[in-house]
Amino acid sequence: MVNYNISLIKGDGIGVEIVDEAVKVLDAVGKKFDIQFNYKEYLMGGAAIDATGDPLPQETVDGVLASDACLFGAIGGPKWDNLPREKRPESGLLKFRKSMGVFANLRPAVVYDELVDASSLKPEVIRGVDIMVVRELIGGIYFGEPKGKDETKGWNTMVYTVPEIERIAHVAFKLAMKRDKRVCSVDKANVLDVSQLWRDTVIKISSQYPEVELSHMYVDNCAMQLIANPRQFDVILTGNIFGDILSDEASMLSGSIGLLPSASTGEKTAVYEPIHGSAPDIAGQGIANPIATISSASMMLRYSLDEEKAADAIDAAIKKAMSEGYRTGDLSAYDCKQKVNCSQMGDIIASFI
Ligand code: IPM
Ligand code: MG
Repeated sequence: MVNYNISLIKGDGIGVEIVDEAVKVLDAVGKKFDIQFNYKEYLMGGAAIDATGDPLPQETVDGVLASDACLFGAIGGPKWDNLPREKRPESGLLKFRKSMGVFANLRPAVVYDELVDASSLKPEVIRGVDIMVVRELIGGIYFGEPKGKDETKGWNTMVYTVPEIERIAHVAFKLAMKRDKRVCSVDKANVLDVSQLWRDTVIKISSQYPEVELSHMYVDNCAMQLIANPRQFDVILTGNIFGDILSDEASMLSGSIGLLPSASTGEKTAVYEPIHGSAPDIAGQGIANPIATISSASMMLRYSLDEEKAADAIDAAIKKAMSEGYRTGDLSAYDCKQKVNCSQMGDIIASFI
């Protein structure tokens, strides 16, 4: 039997409920494929502030780095909103990403056929959409120096080095090779010097992937094209802040933000998490949609643990739950045959494994 050490960070709000359901499904898949998952829980965000005064305790950094992979729920909530910025849950998350060295954030936006009506866009525009946003996660304007604020001005710096651009470009091209072999690199090269370097570097790296078709788009146009004709995209490669914005936009193509997983990978370890937040408005009611987190567990099996079959089994079980009409509240208006709560959805998907 193979053994994996999985670190769990449930976090705040619905994070606690949805991670429990993903664990349920992982255990079902473990039983079927003879895999043993050893879990260890760590604190981050508001839960960590409450317990230790620090949004990212050192124990969490050390524990996650020592594990094979990390499954993460969500952090933040109104309770911690008035703290100074460096003490807030979000600061813990940014420091966490940096400490883990997870420079590549993969955010798929896929439209399930059963849910084409759940999107605010027309079904004929979004049917068949299958996009992977590759967002650089530990550089750019989020981390650039100098930064600061005084009484009269505030400033941040968008900076990328050639090696930073090269390594994220390789991730995008390698992914494209396993998909439809198209990369669209998104920048603002008509205005920003940093974007011009981005574009030059991506072009240079593309020569190592002759089979992949490379295109470039300005970020404002990309925001428009995602709504006008999202099927034109396969892999979108972009920097930290553009990727933050475009991945939220792309997620809405699928109808519910409760469906989409993400992976943050790097050289040391990888972190898998739903792209949605901690949803304090529905926390503790047991009604959250756990599918994004269950799907993140599938990405973990596929990308970190090389357990393709187990990942396929989870993806198939999610699809079956969808096609048989099981829906949590966020999607109960669309083709719903049975409305279920968070833990029932976990049970159903686990039973389909
Ligand atoms: C995300 C979030 C974070 C980000 C926030 C919470 C710091 O919006 O993961 O997309 O901006 O990266
Ligand atoms: Mg975001």
